[in-house]
Amino acid sequence: MDMMTNDLVLKVLRGQLVDRTPVWMMRQAGRYLPDYIKLREKYSFFERCQTPELATEITLQPIDQIGVDAAIIFSDILVVPQAMGLEVQIVEGKGPFLPQTIKTRQDLDKLIIPDVEEHLGYVFDALAMTKRTLNGRVPLIGFAGAPWTLLCYMVEGKGSKTFDQAKAFCYMQPELAHALLDKITDTTIRYLKGQVKAGADVLQLFDSWGGLLGPQDFETFSLKYMRKIVGALKDEVPVILFAKGAWHSLKEMADTGAHGLGIDWCIQPSLAREFAGDRVALQGNFDPAKLLSPIPVIQAEVKNMLAAFGKGHHIANLGHGILPNVPVDHARAFVDTVKSYEW
Ligand code: CP3
Repeated sequence: MDMMTNDLVLKVLRGQLVDRTPVWMMRQAGRYLPDYIKLREKYSFFERCQTPELATEITLQPIDQIGVDAAIIFSDILVVPQAMGLEVQIVEGKGPFLPQTIKTRQDLDKLIIPDVEEHLGYVFDALAMTKRTLNGRVPLIGFAGAPWTLLCYMVEGKGSKTFDQAKAFCYMQPELAHALLDKITDTTIRYLKGQVKAGADVLQLFDSWGGLLGPQDFETFSLKYMRKIVGALKDEVPVILFAKGAWHSLKEMADTGAHGLGIDWCIQPSLAREFAGDRVALQGNFDPAKLLSPIPVIQAEVKNMLAAFGKGHHIANLGHGILPNVPVDHARAFVDTVKSYEW
């Protein structure tokens, strides 16, 4: 591989010891940065995703302005349902809206397993351009939504606190649900392999709604499919699984062979370590809303978090995506406190 100036994240994911804990923030590209908000006024969401120059610029903003130790490509998990043939709208101030949802066998049969070069080639172009522009400064993270989380949006058509329609679909029509999850999984494996070919150094699967399922249903409708994806990619690049709220299954997630597990702020780092075992790196778990605290509070709480994880096998991060209303100097205080922590 080419030379990388800062490979702390890769080292931690490979189980190597490092002098300091690396740090990045989920959803760091976009949302709260003033330069991003300016671009949002000029270009639609999908224009930003589909224009490699814009996606590269947005991906690099937090590297240049906040000093994080990894870049995550600017895109969205919903580009996969879009490539499979569903219309996806991002409604300003409201979030995603998918007008044609999946409810019947006919709906499912209309979905394609896309040629990823043809339908998602713009993400690969963005990764390749970002990789060239980064020039080895930090690793580049590619990502996809976990099949369960994508099913939630494809069945329900929009965000929800409970995704009970998606659950009802799984419980009433399990065969159809599994056929849908299989189709998403096949597409995702092809998509992530393409991301690696285009230059992604690490992959993260976002199972934002994994924690809505009980442990048994999590295995049946989510982990089974993430296991297949990890199995297909883990020998190519390190893989991180982030299943928000699914702390009960950390051991099972570690057993997939994933290199890192993301955790949210509702579990103590020591307990997460006990569940996950010693082999994987843990990533997290600062409450994103705590970035709205005064800076001295952020600094103190970040130090508590680092001490709670202990030295090594940890990538500092938030426990979910950064909120749009976080002041930039608060995000910077989070990152700077991790970087200057003395063990
Ligand atoms: O980490 C990064 O900054 C890379 C970019 C990224 C986006 N979405 C950009 C985006 C990533 C990693 C995602 C993942 C994503 N998208 C998830 C999983 C992570 C999580 O937060 O749980 C989910 C559930 C989605 C679905 C989605 N897309 C929602 C709920 C929304 C609307 C509200 C919002 O900001 O989260 C989107 C749109 C979206 N995706 C925006 C951005 C920057 C906002 C649109 C805009 O800025 O115009």
